[in-house]
Amino acid sequence: MSTELPESAVPPTTDAGESSSAPTRRTFIATSTAVGGAVVAGGVIGGSFLAAPEEVAAAEAPPSSRVSLTVNGTRRTVTVDNRTSLLDLLREHLGLVGSKKGCNAGACGACTVLVDGRRVNSCLTLAVRLEGAEVTTIEGLADGDRLHPLQQAFIDEDAFQCGYCTPGQIVSGVGCIQEGHTGSPEEIREWMSGNICRCGCYVKIVRAVEQTAARK
Ligand code: FES
Ligand code: FES
Repeated sequence: MSTELPESAVPPTTDAGESSSAPTRRTFIATSTAVGGAVVAGGVIGGSFLAAPEEVAAAEAPPSSRVSLTVNGTRRTVTVDNRTSLLDLLREHLGLVGSKKGCNAGACGACTVLVDGRRVNSCLTLAVRLEGAEVTTIEGLADGDRLHPLQQAFIDEDAFQCGYCTPGQIVSGVGCIQEGHTGSPEEIREWMSGNICRCGCYVKIVRAVEQTAARK
């Protein structure tokens, strides 16, 4: 059986064969592209379709807040992204890099600071929630050139190796002593258990806390 089409049904195979009035696939695409380009160009030029760059930037900027708090006795006011942790506020906005970022998840205690006298993991504390708070970091413990007694005890007892956990250990130890949880080495161990030392200096850390508490 023949599959040949009658001549009238055969589609034109060349441009020369296209009807001059009917839009071809080629002219349709060319026209669409030109019209689309004009619409975009109109949006940019007229500003009626696309937002201005500054509007885009404002829409994309994360929400931020102003917070005033006292850090080591000095009033500080900063504007921060609402998601900023106290640890990042201290290290990146105030240049206080003594508090260390270990796990950044509340598991190691390297970031321990005192907020209104209480020990906190600053990596888990939102800065914007601390309006009016009093924060003490490792930088705020010494009295001028005179080290805090616990800082001195860490040196005397050689209670560190790499030192990465030490700022958190000392601030936590100060909190532990203030709370009165220093009745025995076991009690100190229990109440300092949130502060991990990968170098394993626990015996000397506990001794430093114990001796400082005994001198109070
Ligand atoms: S860095 Fe905050 S608990 Fe580890
Ligand atoms: S001294 Fe190295 S982690 Fe504690």
